[in-house]
Amino acid sequence: MRRGPFRAGDRVQLTDPKGRMHTITLEDGKEFHTHRGHLKHDDLIDAPDGSVVRHTSGAEYLALRPLLSDFVLSMPRGAQVVYPKDAGQIVTFADIFPGAVVVEAGVGSGALSLSLLRAVGESGRLLSFERREDFADIARANARTFFGQDHPAWTVTVGDLVDALPQAVEPGTVDRVVLDMLAPWDCLDVVGTALAPGGVLVCYVATTTQLSRVAEAAKAAGGWTEPQAWESMVRGWHLEGLAVRPEHRMHGHTGFLVTMRRLAPGTDAPLRRKRPAPGAYGEDYAPASGEWSAAELGERPVSDKKLRRTRRDAAATATRVTGSDTDPEEGP
Ligand SMILES: C[S@@+](CC[C@H](N)C(=O)[O-])C[C@H]1O[C@@H](n2cnc3c(N)ncnc32)[C@H](O)[C@@H]1O
Repeated sequence: MRRGPFRAGDRVQLTDPKGRMHTITLEDGKEFHTHRGHLKHDDLIDAPDGSVVRHTSGAEYLALRPLLSDFVLSMPRGAQVVYPKDAGQIVTFADIFPGAVVVEAGVGSGALSLSLLRAVGESGRLLSFERREDFADIARANARTFFGQDHPAWTVTVGDLVDALPQAVEPGTVDRVVLDMLAPWDCLDVVGTALAPGGVLVCYVATTTQLSRVAEAAKAAGGWTEPQAWESMVRGWHLEGLAVRPEHRMHGHTGFLVTMRRLAPGTDAPLRRKRPAPGAYGEDYAPASGEWSAAELGERPVSDKKLRRTRRDAAATATRVTGSDTDPEEGP
């Protein structure tokens, strides 16, 4: 899927002279239309990746296979995706390696799953858990579209991680866990049991309140190294002759990452020698209601209507790419 001349079924990213991008799936005899004319898919089939094709208006379009980072930004979405800049950090700092056994929850639209599958490879295992069946369907369809088939290392289980993980793995057998969800602190117990000693847990959270709560819950539970937290900011640069400067726009905030490692059974991390900052555990420390709601944490709900459309679109694209029928109401 990722090398050699373009073939029918390949996804191709077309860039027009103004830099606008369109993603098409190549089909024999089909045409890509814009309001100024069209170009023929047949002109691309058998052409090398990185070719330029001419539109009937005379405009030239650059044709390239989308990279994983391009695909993730244009694929159908149910939930908010992990952006490529954060996926790169997660793969590196969670130390995801070929052959690793990795647990991920939730799956959402499957953006992070694609990076994790790439990193574990066909000899590894990615066990992903998602409590919403409609999101799991969108993620499966996106992965099928990207890899051209179901990835052999991937299992998606619909259910809450807290209930489903103990049924799915033996204690101490998982190398790495990545949590991207509203309340990762609720999963610390089951994740701690599943992880092998020395295993890595990475949590990706959107707000500082979540960051604080998961770190404090891990410290209170014991059995973990001191949590490390950070965020990454990527600033693109404009490159044109002498006009070399940062881009005017950037993503100001995506999420925070917090990592920790599982200690051997019965071991507690050595006590911190530093005193906590005054007020660090003051009265304001706990959330007012005792539990943070999705709205308090700034999660935007997605309408059922939009989800049904996204689920249908994702399945239709996967069908076009793989040639086999995908029923969005059915599992794999
Ligand atoms: C922000 S999305 C994940 C996005 C995903 N990482 C991606 O890159 O596309 C969070 C997901 O976690 C799921 N979720 C939340 N808590 C969960 C739990 N305890 N077990 C399984 N899934 C959970 C939600 O349904 C939601 O789909």
